[in-house]
Amino acid sequence: MSAREPIMATTGLSATDPQALLDAVLRSNAGTTEPRLRQILAAAIRHLHAFALETELTPAELDIGLDFLVAIGQASGPKKHEGILLADILGLATLVQLRGARHALAAGGTEPALVGPFWRSGQPLRSHGECIASAETPGPRLTVRGRVCSLDGRPLAGARVETWQASPRGLYDNQDASQPNMNLRGRFETDAEGRFSFLSVRPAGYPVPTDGPCGELLAAQGRHTMRPAHLHVLVVAEGHRVLATQFFDAEDPHAHDDVVFGAVGSLLRRFEPDGQGGYTLDLELRLEPGATLIPKCPLP
Ligand code: BEZ
Ligand code: FE
Repeated sequence: MSAREPIMATTGLSATDPQALLDAVLRSNAGTTEPRLRQILAAAIRHLHAFALETELTPAELDIGLDFLVAIGQASGPKKHEGILLADILGLATLVQLRGARHALAAGGTEPALVGPFWRSGQPLRSHGECIASAETPGPRLTVRGRVCSLDGRPLAGARVETWQASPRGLYDNQDASQPNMNLRGRFETDAEGRFSFLSVRPAGYPVPTDGPCGELLAAQGRHTMRPAHLHVLVVAEGHRVLATQFFDAEDPHAHDDVVFGAVGSLLRRFEPDGQGGYTLDLELRLEPGATLIPKCPLP
């Protein structure tokens, strides 16, 4: 072979035959021993090649995309995961979560929603009816009453219910010096009838963090940055799949326009006026029997 012969000729590939290149890359993946990893890599390779062909991606544009991925990594650390935020604002996290729950949903299970970046480990264990809002956080009172049950309606006693929410100013305790540590957070244990209850203040919507590359992406797309007001709930019950979900204020201006696409139909709720200036929220949490895998907690 002469030194001037194009490199493609040595491998039998042609610049005008993208299928041959794709086939060669897929063959190079065939030795991946772990079957699920082999399947995921093959699908990623096929979709990435199709994406480059569909968009006629240029080398300069590929560089911009790769620099963006580097920036996502560099903006991440123990307290911030810009990669999770990217999956959130592209709707990928919601898609994966809803697909994973489709059998439970078809059987009447409660719809899941993102855990998000603000769940903290070591949220304080509280007693039934306790208020999770400190005196430093004034706002309209919210009474939350809930019941945890299995798909067949059987109450789940002794289940662990974690809750966390933003303040009426739209800030979590770890973002706001005026709130005491672990404000608007709590962990409850369900009683013999699967029930729990607590008092709080009505949360407000808030923007997702925009100080990193995801903020730049949202700006380039001309998108707003807001999540509708919500209350997070995570339920751990023996013999059942962990349910992470959120209940959204149906009256929030962004109730149908959540920047992370998490506010799905059945999770939009009217916070009912209690006739004394406050609101009530009644929840039923139906869990699917299965392995109890607790998600990774994002914050200490
Ligand atoms: C949250 O619900 O706390 C959240 C979810 C995704 C991105 C940012 C915040
Ligand atoms: Fe949240």
